[in-house]
Amino acid sequence: MELSGKSAIVTGAASGIGREIALTLGARGALVTVADVNAGGAAAVAGEIEGAGGTARAAAVDVSDGGQVEAMAASVVSAYGSVDALVNVAGFALNSPVVDMSEDDWDLVLGVNLKGQFLCCRAAGRRMIEQGTGGRIINIASTAALNARYAGGAYCAAKAGVVQLTKVLALELGGYGITVNAVGPGFTETPATAESPGEYRANFLAQVPAGRAGRPGDIANAVLFLASPLAEYVNGQVIYVDGGYSAGKLTVRG
Ligand SMILES: NC(=O)c1ccc[n+]([C@@H]2O[C@H](COP(=O)([O-])OP(=O)(O)OC[C@H]3O[C@@H](n4cnc5c(N)ncnc54)[C@H](O)[C@@H]3O)[C@@H](O)[C@H]2O)c1
Repeated sequence: MELSGKSAIVTGAASGIGREIALTLGARGALVTVADVNAGGAAAVAGEIEGAGGTARAAAVDVSDGGQVEAMAASVVSAYGSVDALVNVAGFALNSPVVDMSEDDWDLVLGVNLKGQFLCCRAAGRRMIEQGTGGRIINIASTAALNARYAGGAYCAAKAGVVQLTKVLALELGGYGITVNAVGPGFTETPATAESPGEYRANFLAQVPAGRAGRPGDIANAVLFLASPLAEYVNGQVIYVDGGYSAGKLTVRG
């Protein structure tokens, strides 16, 4: 699963799952652009990759802003000559029952989690088509795309949208040798979920056959496979990396 010399953008890479993906791709020889709205965090992760002998640069970008995304993609081509892979990780949840949710909060969640992925896919896809050498796009979805959760209206809708966006792009870009797939994490230990209420965490993990929460490395391994030459013929798919959570509800003998 060598990615030597391949230019890969990872959004949301200053923390959690995105950070681990950036480190993993960097360790396999990719030229990583660590893209995040948190400029200091992105610089720190780029420094970690370089410290381990890899090649990386930080890019400060709000993925919900089309102008910033275009500028980021252009800067990647200037720095590394191409965009060969994009991993869309930037995202977050604001939990509220739908009837209590403000319009601003809805726009914020959809703006980053769904519109942000559209903007980054568009910017990277255009460049990959121009380059004519194929490419890899991997979108981070969630088990929230499959299973509705209380107070998850905006987040579940956004992640379900990510799944369909992924499949549409697979049809549109497949002919250019560009694959577009998604990875759907289950409950994964990151700075974001460290703030989850104990009752939510316990309820979720009780439904995980593996008996543990996911680790960022579990997700990064699936992304590495999809980014690698081994996954050349995998297109338009969603791999749920969730310890079996989404396989079904009954985990006891009938
Ligand atoms: N942790 C989980 O259990 C879990 C489960 C399923 C899906 N996910 C998804 O995985 C992704 C990463 O989650 P995490 O748990 O690692 O979260 P995290 O909070 O640790 O990291 C998210 C990163 O995204 C960045 N970000 C937020 N808004 C941004 C914006 N507008 N532009 C650019 N960067 C922005 C943040 O600065 C942060 O560095 C998210 O898309 C999340 O929905 C996480």
